[in-house]
Amino acid sequence: MQSLRQSARGDSGCHILAHCQLSGAYRCCARKGRNVAIAVLALSLTAIALFSGCRLDMHVQPKQNPFERSAFFSDQRSERPLVEGTVARGQLRADTYFYTGRIGGTLGDYMPFPVTKDVLERGRERFNIYCSPCHSLLGDGNGFVPSRGFSRKPPSYHIPRLRNAPLGYFFDVMTNGFGIMPDYRSQIEPEDRWKIVAYIRALQLSQNATAADVPAGQAVPSQPPRLQLGSGATLPVIESATARQAEEQK
Ligand code: HEC
Repeated sequence: MQSLRQSARGDSGCHILAHCQLSGAYRCCARKGRNVAIAVLALSLTAIALFSGCRLDMHVQPKQNPFERSAFFSDQRSERPLVEGTVARGQLRADTYFYTGRIGGTLGDYMPFPVTKDVLERGRERFNIYCSPCHSLLGDGNGFVPSRGFSRKPPSYHIPRLRNAPLGYFFDVMTNGFGIMPDYRSQIEPEDRWKIVAYIRALQLSQNATAADVPAGQAVPSQPPRLQLGSGATLPVIESATARQAEEQK
């Protein structure tokens, strides 16, 4: 019995066949084996056909494209209207003075944040980039652009009218433009506009300072240098501060 089973399996390598031979119903069983094979083949083909049809890759996305028609809402628009009073993140302009330079329509004359050295330095950098081409590094209106045929020269910041103008005025001019000058609201952030305002005020002070503005105990550094004239064959020499002090003490 054992040897018969082994030889049967050895012949075909098939368990089903071996079983059939043993049970003496070889022919019917061979047909059975073929049917099973066909059924398995058919089943796997159906599965492949079914599951390949069901694939949902990321490039097929069940979503509405912008302005696409939708049968879901009664107005047939896929977009919903904004709820009234909605403010996008980061766009709440609650601090009106910071964004307009005005308090209830009147121009204000104070900075919305404290002025530090960093604020002034940023202001100087932005001013030199955006304003100096027309207003000059000094703010006297003699910039490069007007010198090449700009139809109107900008006024100097150092005239009394602009020296007395409130800080909010400069913010307003940058935000809304003035006469033929374009506005700079899209190029310069509100915070940087205020920093430029602070720097313009510093420029105005710098051009109208007196000795009384120098803090106590600090020498004004712009004393003219004293020269020892040369013979004509030698160059003049600037006297050193120590040599001058020694001479004064004599
Ligand atoms: C393209 C040249 C140009 C640039 C750049 C420019 N301005 Fe002007 N600005 C002018 C001209 C021209 C006027 C005079 C406009 C007029 O009278 O029609 C003016 C006028 C002004 C005034 C005076 C308004 C008044 O009451 O007379 C201020 C303040 C001012 N600009 C600030 C600025 C600041 C701050 C910047 C930089 C953010 C700037 N401008 C950049 C050309 C320029």
